[in-house]
Amino acid sequence: MNTNLLSNFDNDLNIAIIGASGGIGQALVSSLENTVNVKNIIHISRSNPKINNKTNRLHIDLLDEKTMIDCSNIISDSYKGLDIIINATGFLHDNDYKPEKSYKMIDAAYLEKSFKINTFGPFLLAKHFIPLLRKDRKSIFSCISARVGSIENNQLGGWHSYRASKAALNMLLKNLSIELKYANKNAISVGLHPGTVDTNLSKPFPKSRSHYNVFTPSESSQHLISVINKLEPKDSGNTYDWAGKRIPF
Ligand SMILES: NC(=O)c1ccc[n+]([C@@H]2O[C@H](COP(=O)([O-])OP(=O)(O)OC[C@H]3O[C@@H](n4cnc5c(N)ncnc54)[C@H](OP(=O)(O)O)[C@@H]3O)[C@@H](O)[C@H]2O)c1
Repeated sequence: MNTNLLSNFDNDLNIAIIGASGGIGQALVSSLENTVNVKNIIHISRSNPKINNKTNRLHIDLLDEKTMIDCSNIISDSYKGLDIIINATGFLHDNDYKPEKSYKMIDAAYLEKSFKINTFGPFLLAKHFIPLLRKDRKSIFSCISARVGSIENNQLGGWHSYRASKAALNMLLKNLSIELKYANKNAISVGLHPGTVDTNLSKPFPKSRSHYNVFTPSESSQHLISVINKLEPKDSGNTYDWAGKRIPF
């Protein structure tokens, strides 16, 4: 069934989803596939093969800048420009690491990995992908951030590496918004908080407490697309939650 989730945008949209293999990334692709004014969805993920002849399935590794350069070159050669970029990559835990409950657990390797994926990767993505945004009409550079990256809103503490890496990401998005006013006045740079979503990233953490509203990836993706649809240049630089509410820095 066709939908019109991006009714405030023009036609023939080219959309790049980075992290298209993740829980939220996959759901974003599915939701956008049925959106009437979307022309191309470019699936970009680490699991896509490094070499193939498809221009809509590209490989990227946020730990390897060369893959970002290769990817942006292919997009630049194959598409007229991007209308929307959504970076849905992120890291919280793996078999070796889990988020710190106390400063006593701070570990340089976990800190480094968190920043490499949640912060350095998006910084480099901005460098290589922002030039791909269209300049003749509204365009969006967005990264999925997290409410816990808010410094002002931090009531619980803990999760030092993840929180700090997302706070730094939010600073990048604000900085980009200032630069884009001059470099591409139609471009909007934002962070998005997807809510608590049932994906691999959130799996190990209890979600049964009543104040948690846990979304399926599909529900979250539809909320995020609705937020993107309503974005205007005045919103650039901020991070918004799934309901469209601005999260304080
Ligand atoms: N789930 C939640 O409750 C929640 C809440 C707040 C914020 N978020 C944020 O939402 C975003 C998406 O998370 P998710 O819940 O969808 O998690 P997920 O299912 O674990 O997906 C994570 C994605 O990041 C990709 N990724 C990790 N390291 C990478 C690297 N080095 N290079 C390229 N891609 C890499 C993964 O690729 P592979 O498939 O190749 O591993 C995967 O596509 C993250 O930024 C997360 O912080 C999630």
